[in-house]
Amino acid sequence: MKYTNQQLQELGLATLPAHIVIIMDGNGRWAKGRSLPRAAGHKAGVERLRELIRFSSDAGIAALTLYAFSSENWVRPEPEVRVLCNLLVEYFNKEIAELHENQVRIRAIGDLNAFPQRVQKAVRAAEEKTAQNAGLKLNIALNYGAQAELLRAAQACSARAIETGRLPEKADFEAQLYTADLPEVDLMIRTSGEQRLSNFLLYQLAYAELYFTPCFWPDFTKEEYIKALRDYNARGRRFGGL
Ligand code: IPE
Ligand code: IPE
Ligand code: MG
Repeated sequence: MKYTNQQLQELGLATLPAHIVIIMDGNGRWAKGRSLPRAAGHKAGVERLRELIRFSSDAGIAALTLYAFSSENWVRPEPEVRVLCNLLVEYFNKEIAELHENQVRIRAIGDLNAFPQRVQKAVRAAEEKTAQNAGLKLNIALNYGAQAELLRAAQACSARAIETGRLPEKADFEAQLYTADLPEVDLMIRTSGEQRLSNFLLYQLAYAELYFTPCFWPDFTKEEYIKALRDYNARGRRFGGL
C-alpha cells in the first residue's frame, strides 16, 4: 500500500530523501550477544530487508543502496564468506517474485566477477527480470569499494581523453560511476555504532546527511528506519549557502 502525503506528514516524514544508502553493520556482534554463531547474525540481517525495502517502496523513495559486501570483506575466514554468498543466492531466489511484483528495479554495484558463478547468476537474473520496473531503484553493493570505483572511473576517463584529445567534464566523470543514473545521495545510515564510511561511496556522499545508530543491523526495524528518516527531516541542509 502506497503512503499518501498526508500519511507521511503524520509520520513526521514530510521531506523524504530521494536516495538513501545504508551500511548494514553489526550482524556478528548481534549474534555474539545472543551466543549464536556469526552466520545466525547474517541470516537475521537478511530478514530485516523485506520490511525496509517494502517501506521504502511504499513511501515513494526513489533509490535505496545497500552495502552488502565490501571489497575488503574477502579477508574474512572462508566459511563466513561462503555463508554470505549462500545467503545472497538464497535471498535473490526467494525474494525476487515479491520485489518484481512491487516494481522494484534491482542492480548490483561493484565488481561481481570475483564472486562464485552461482552468485553472479542469481544477481544477473534478478537484474534482468526487474530491469524494466519503474518503482524503487534498489542497488546492492557487492564487492564494492569506493577507491576502486574512483580509480576505474579515472582510468576510463583517461582512456577517453587520449582517444578524443578532450579532458573530461564533471558529467563525463560521474557517468563512469556505478551511481550514474541515480539521484544524489541525501542520507547515509550506518548501524552498529561504528562511525566511519569503510570505503563506501566516498564521492557520492559529499553532501549527504550522515546518521549513525548504535542499533545492530538485525535490530534495525521499520520503526528504527522511520526514526532515522525523522532525524533527516529535522536537519537543515545548506550546501554551502546560508
Ligand atoms: C555486517 O555485519 C555484514 C557484513 C559486513 C557482510 P558484520 O559481519 O560486519 O558484523 P560485525 O561488525 O562483526 O558485528
Ligand atoms: C562495512 O562493514 C561493509 C558492509 C556493511 C558490507 P565492515 O564490518 O566490513 O566494516 P569495518 O571493517 O568495521 O570498517
Ligand atoms: Mg562489521
